[in-house]
Amino acid sequence: MHAVYLTSVFVHILCATAWVGGMAFLVLVVVPWLRAGNQEIAGRLLRETGERFRTVGWVCFVLLLITGTFNLWVRGVRFSSFVDPAWLGSSYGKSVLLKLSLFVVVLIVSAVHDFVVGPRATRAIQADPRSPEAEQLRKRASMMGRLNALLALALVAVAVTLVRGAPW
Ligand code: HEM
Repeated sequence: MHAVYLTSVFVHILCATAWVGGMAFLVLVVVPWLRAGNQEIAGRLLRETGERFRTVGWVCFVLLLITGTFNLWVRGVRFSSFVDPAWLGSSYGKSVLLKLSLFVVVLIVSAVHDFVVGPRATRAIQADPRSPEAEQLRKRASMMGRLNALLALALVAVAVTLVRGAPW
């Protein structure tokens, strides 16, 4: 059983690094490079890399949820814990609730970005990159991307408290 648990934590951390690392690369490397005068290929590059990373991201989310649930189970968390006032008020209980809430927000922001705003932005950029609609959708998509990057940092910070104890 311990080997299964270690494998679960390994896969969990691998997925976390793939997702967080991928977003960091997009936000810190690709977008600034496109802004530095590579507009002509921006639409195509963001569309094609964005679609590939979307698949990577959602595979990571599914694996994070499966391995995360198993990790919680190994650490003694049960469905009944979520109706137990003592556990809900405990430092660990608060960390788990905070992490799951952040994860739900990340799923909602990612779904809207990946399946609504993102595709609409790339279609508008393809039709007329200088149109007000393309500009507005591009801004909204990148704002949501940055919001998810911030949420990812908060998720990793709360994750550390799940293993090493929380300051609350
Ligand atoms: C995008 C989502 C997520 C990210 C980025 C993430 C990230 C991480 C990281 C980096 C760790 C290792 C922390 C450390 O060793 O100090 C971790 C551990 C953990 N995560 Fe997540 N996680 C995510 C989603 C979830 C979900 C959805 C659950 C529960 C359903 C969960 C439950 C856990 C548990 C229980 C641990 C402790 C593992 C252990 O026993 O060592 N995580 N997470």
